[in-house]
Amino acid sequence: MHLGIIMDGNGRWATRLGRSRGAGHRAGAAMVRRIVEAAPDLGIGVLTLFAFSADNWRRPAAEVAWLMRLFREYLRGETERCVANGVRLEVIGRRDRIGPALQRAIETAYRKTAAGTRLHLRIALDYSSRDAILRAAQCLSPEAAPTRDAFSRLLAIADHGTPVPDVDLLIRTGGERRLSDFLLWEAAYAELLFTPLMWPEFGPEALREAIADFSTRQRRFGALPEAAAG
Ligand code: FPP
Repeated sequence: MHLGIIMDGNGRWATRLGRSRGAGHRAGAAMVRRIVEAAPDLGIGVLTLFAFSADNWRRPAAEVAWLMRLFREYLRGETERCVANGVRLEVIGRRDRIGPALQRAIETAYRKTAAGTRLHLRIALDYSSRDAILRAAQCLSPEAAPTRDAFSRLLAIADHGTPVPDVDLLIRTGGERRLSDFLLWEAAYAELLFTPLMWPEFGPEALREAIADFSTRQRRFGALPEAAAG
């Protein structure tokens, strides 16, 4: 199962508690750790987390710098734990606008976790789904007529990842109900779940409930329900 999560609400969660937005992001990073730990036992094979969108550069410089530091700390601090837990870590998105220290941390995490088979963890950083589709399209020759599957593989590779199956379930925390340029191609038939919980409040129990809800959904992929199809 491929699960995508738009981790929204760190700032509002912190503000409600009278804390800084930076503290909210730190709590968000702690929740990432717990969800990554819980995911494999819930049947999740691929987990794509939206950590920083290409549009998030428009936030105040201090908040952006804080987030970049958190990502670096996360990668440096979690790589060994990922190796021990069989987690293969990839970062998808643009690389040319992030600092060299973070780039090095990404490369090290890739190399060290490459053999992980329990969970394929993809962190989307400086990510835009529409830009990723454009980049993949630019790799095609004018005569190329790729199948959807071939284009999906190209899309992952053009964004520094490796091929993944389509998204099955897409969760957005924080009460908003939009996709915000996340996995637009890959989530064509994803089940959507929007929760009012802020990301730092979304623990393994909420994930368990989300998976239980997902398992009750009837996925038809455009066909008729089985009973009606005869
Ligand atoms: C959106 O919530 C969240 C982000 C832009 C950052 C997501 C980052 C994390 C969850 C922490 C670190 C992640 C990793 C992978 C280590 P928001 O802050 O915009 O919330 P708001 O809408 O309440 O202001």
